[in-house]
Amino acid sequence: MTTDGRTGPAPVPTGPLSKIDYSERIPNNVNLADDRRLQRALEGWQPKFLDWWKTLGPALPTKDVYLRTAIAVGRDGWAHFDHVPMEDYRWGIFLAERDPDRVVSFGKHRGEPAWQEVPGEHRADLMRLIVIQGDTEPASVEQQRVLGNTAPSIYDLRNLFQVNVEEGRHLWAMVYLLHAYFGREGREEAEQLLKRNSGDLDSPRILGAFNEATTDWLQFFMFTYFTDRDGKYQLGTLKESAFDPLARTCEFMLKEEAHHMFVGTTGVQRIVERTAEVMKEKGGAATFEDGVIPLDVIQKYLNFQFSVSMDLFGGEQSTNAGNYYSSGLKGRWQETRRKDDHVLLEDTRTMRYVEDGEIREKEVPMLSALNLDLRDEYVADCANGVRRWNQALEEAGLDERLILPHEGFNRRVGTYSQHHVSPEGQVLTDEEWASVRDGYLPSDQDRADVATLMVPEYEYGKFAGWIAPPLTGINDQPVEFDYVHLAEEGLV
Ligand SMILES: [Fe+2]
Ligand SMILES: [Fe+2]
Repeated sequence: MTTDGRTGPAPVPTGPLSKIDYSERIPNNVNLADDRRLQRALEGWQPKFLDWWKTLGPALPTKDVYLRTAIAVGRDGWAHFDHVPMEDYRWGIFLAERDPDRVVSFGKHRGEPAWQEVPGEHRADLMRLIVIQGDTEPASVEQQRVLGNTAPSIYDLRNLFQVNVEEGRHLWAMVYLLHAYFGREGREEAEQLLKRNSGDLDSPRILGAFNEATTDWLQFFMFTYFTDRDGKYQLGTLKESAFDPLARTCEFMLKEEAHHMFVGTTGVQRIVERTAEVMKEKGGAATFEDGVIPLDVIQKYLNFQFSVSMDLFGGEQSTNAGNYYSSGLKGRWQETRRKDDHVLLEDTRTMRYVEDGEIREKEVPMLSALNLDLRDEYVADCANGVRRWNQALEEAGLDERLILPHEGFNRRVGTYSQHHVSPEGQVLTDEEWASVRDGYLPSDQDRADVATLMVPEYEYGKFAGWIAPPLTGINDQPVEFDYVHLAEEGLV
């Protein structure tokens, strides 16, 4: 709460479109007040969202949290930081500013003005894309629900909650599109987004990785590194969409998403740093008895989260992906920077597959392999983090290194799903795989051992022994800042 008793971010004056109107029940920069029907429909959805947040949002009771809230979508100063009770966070609808001259940059509509309405022929496909994206947002909040109980520090606890409220806002972003552009069907889909739940046996989330429990903080950091990064790449393709409101929504979501990946990159790095420190002191492998996470267990968590996130890109070859591209619904990563005809009818590329126990290459039409195109961009990006983590090992004078597993490792989707491939890229028989599996993926014992280290550290400026402190705090605050005030009941 602020000193004058307000419980939300400072009200900001309404003005040009880039400013967000906080005087409304639903903060927005889409002139919601001008469309009473839409406003009423969204105000009808709002209490259901809040119910969902109370039931399946963060389990740890807090008084307030030092959160950032968007105040304008423009380039500078879009965020405002303040202590806010989490249920009073101002979830709203923020679209990047409209470029009135924007044209479609790829596919058969290339050069035509971007669409401000949904063309009838693409209605079903567009709604499906929005629902799938929307389904992942609340799913991750559900997956991370109990992590607050074992936070390694107040600083990390605050970052978890920041990620959680923003994933909640990303749900709002998709629900706005469903309500505003897809009529009754869209409103029904918006209801379903709150009714499917992560890991629910009867009505699970749509995509596999979003039904895996996030069991501990090592997995949370791997999740924000690898799985939020999948989100970044999916949003990157929707940001190119000919459907302008979708493009503008995703553009702003990407700004928020950057922080989630920062949490993942630095979180894993701080774990590696701490383990490396102990390895250096001991002159050998660190174990759980040393109070840190052994490097081989970090590698197994990395292997797991990378491989399940790779599955989120779908099969390497997909007719749907090609059709989405040609019709302008979904572009490629950084479409406008690509130096080709942006139609791709004549283009081909190579793809790897398994045949006779080895990995081979074949030439396939580019339009059929756009999932693979996006996945390759993602893999290259993932490799940057691994390099950064290895730097921590190098700086500690250690020879050990982490690796990014082969694209075929532990896959359930696509061309590798019928085969076993080692992290180094060797095709294995079923028997070979069974004998080495626990060396590559976290075993129940590994997860249980990591869980023993997950003891909360709620004293300001203190950190659990298995993770190094960050170099700096959030928004130029000191590391020991009171980022979260726990509720009295949370302290017992
Ligand atoms: Fe998100
Ligand atoms: Fe995210």
